[in-house]
Amino acid sequence: MNAQMHIPDIIIAIDGYSSTGKSSFAKLIARETGFLYLDSGALYRGVTLYAIENGLISDDNTIDVEKLAGTLPGLDLHFENGKDGCCTFMGDRCIEKEIRSLYVSGKVSPVSALAQVRSYVDRQLRELGSRKRVIIDGRDIGTTVFPDAELKIFMTADPEVRAMRRMKEMQAKGEDVDFKSVLNNVKERDYIDSHREVSPLAKAEDAVVLDNSDMTMEEQMVWFKDLISRKFGID
Ligand code: DC
Repeated sequence: MNAQMHIPDIIIAIDGYSSTGKSSFAKLIARETGFLYLDSGALYRGVTLYAIENGLISDDNTIDVEKLAGTLPGLDLHFENGKDGCCTFMGDRCIEKEIRSLYVSGKVSPVSALAQVRSYVDRQLRELGSRKRVIIDGRDIGTTVFPDAELKIFMTADPEVRAMRRMKEMQAKGEDVDFKSVLNNVKERDYIDSHREVSPLAKAEDAVVLDNSDMTMEEQMVWFKDLISRKFGID
């Protein structure tokens, strides 16, 4: 695919299980098409980091919901183009590294299950997405946040494959993790994400499934280009 490929002014929603490579795929599409990439998981992770740092979530994941909900309207989470591409900021502090750590990953599911947190994140995303030509990845983008998105992709892959990818990613960042705990975290998040009451992870009826268990990134991009060509009649 080259950067000249013309895609109409649409919203692309990418949903799916954790560690299916949604963000790498979405970032690459954004680079190839000039679309703006929005990482909704980073916003949930940012809220979780805020809750941890302010003592609003305990070791056993009990959350002070009232206090957290009360502070959300004033919480400034946003994306800026840092040195290494798009970076998540809390105020003027880059929180990219902290939000990817295992201690945030272990608490993000219960935090993101809260209705107040979901409506805070949805509001931010709709504001940023209103300009179209955006690609957003998450769990409920095609079902809840942008149900009218013109292109919806639902990504999946075997849990073991996903845990291995996540472990390598974390080890590359210098984190000391073992495969079993990463696999447990992946499975636990699958369960919580797809069983929570508010906006559970689900495939939108009109989403196209991409199972990338045995696919390289290049193969996924070929798949994407083919999908776009067929859907919009572009060669
Ligand atoms: O995509 P990720 O692993 O960075 O997402 C972190 C968590 O946020 C994940 O456990 C589920 C939650 N999430 C969500 O509930 N809805 C979204 N749209 C995106 C993420």
